[in-house]
Amino acid sequence: MPIDQTPEGAPAGLEPAPTPADSWTDARISAAPPSAPPLSGPPLSGPPLSGQPLSGHPDWTPPEIRPGQLEFTRDELLTSHPVEEPLMAGDVLCHGGFIGGRYYSPRTLVRIPAIHAWKGRLAAEGHPLVYFPREYLPPQYPNYEQAKLLLLSGVSEPVVRTLTTIAIVEGFGARIREVGPLRLESDVVEDLGGTCLAHLEGGLFEAHARDEAGWRREGGHKQMWEAARDLGLDHPDVPGDVLMQLMMNMGGGGRRAATRNVPEISKPLESLITLMANVMVIEIFAAEMFAWGRRLLGDPEISARPAEAGGMVACIEADESPHVEYLRTALSELRARDLRTEDGKGRIRGSEVVDRILTAQLRGIASDRPRQQREQSQDEIHRMLMARPNGEALRRRFEDLDSGWRFPENQEIEIQLRVYGNA
Ligand SMILES: [Fe+2]
Ligand SMILES: [Fe+2]
Repeated sequence: MPIDQTPEGAPAGLEPAPTPADSWTDARISAAPPSAPPLSGPPLSGPPLSGQPLSGHPDWTPPEIRPGQLEFTRDELLTSHPVEEPLMAGDVLCHGGFIGGRYYSPRTLVRIPAIHAWKGRLAAEGHPLVYFPREYLPPQYPNYEQAKLLLLSGVSEPVVRTLTTIAIVEGFGARIREVGPLRLESDVVEDLGGTCLAHLEGGLFEAHARDEAGWRREGGHKQMWEAARDLGLDHPDVPGDVLMQLMMNMGGGGRRAATRNVPEISKPLESLITLMANVMVIEIFAAEMFAWGRRLLGDPEISARPAEAGGMVACIEADESPHVEYLRTALSELRARDLRTEDGKGRIRGSEVVDRILTAQLRGIASDRPRQQREQSQDEIHRMLMARPNGEALRRRFEDLDSGWRFPENQEIEIQLRVYGNA
């Protein structure tokens, strides 16, 4: 497996680039409770977002965390900040909230410092963290300029479909709590005490599921994306076949997921690693999509309520960082250990297993599948544009705004998968 070591200083998850996706970085995780990206208008709810940060920020950590602490209870990992004002989407109560005008993601009071502590241990022990080069991230299709043209031309369905699809997929994120029971203590040769891996079932999967699909009275990302869509596009008509189309597109992924990439290990263990790799890759690739949604729904030329709709997406983006980081940390911890083979007698390097599975996941999401979906979307958009007055001119204008993205070939992706060397 051709894995390169990247230079020190690269941020977590992705290569550096001057985009909002850079908020998904080590610095973000390690500094302190994340605040929402700046909004250009009135706050969503609660006090103004330009208010003062928490006392002691950015070095503030909850008093419950001891220096060097690596073990945390489930309740601790699910604890939220004591917010002063909840996040509201119209009359829908959402998760997270505001303290002194800053947005605080839900269930991150202890979870973020804990992830940082586990990453710090990995670094101290000389192990790298996996990350993906930014060059694999295809731009959202249609891109911001193209989507804006569509909306201004009265062709809103592709954008509404995309936003609705995002909301549905976010809700699917709750499936991660259904994983298990895990057998990592027997699957992994070395001790797992004080690792992120040892806390997956002890709060991390549950926190992730609640963030995505909501919990009790609080809406999660599913509800927040629906709210952002309805705020920005003023409650548009939603196509009735969004879920069906999505399931058809995901059908191919399901068949690929059933393929054994590492038959040497047990099927449950491979399924667990595959799920974690799949979710992490999707979360990282969603960065482009989220930035697109925030910009589009925050554009006063096309958004009915740009500050609120764009701000809602910004809050979702802030919530995503711990998802990427705990999965990345857990997979990196597996890379640093040996796994038992299915018969329990042999062992295989975790790095060989994780890298093989990650490469397969990355191939699936970065090349053939999105290329086919893009071609399908392009045909449908052309058809809609041609049905408008002056359709041919609109079609040409739409194509002129295309980013000219070139999908990498599968073999290129395998060669360029890298590991972030932080030792
Ligand atoms: Fe999410
Ligand atoms: Fe997420």
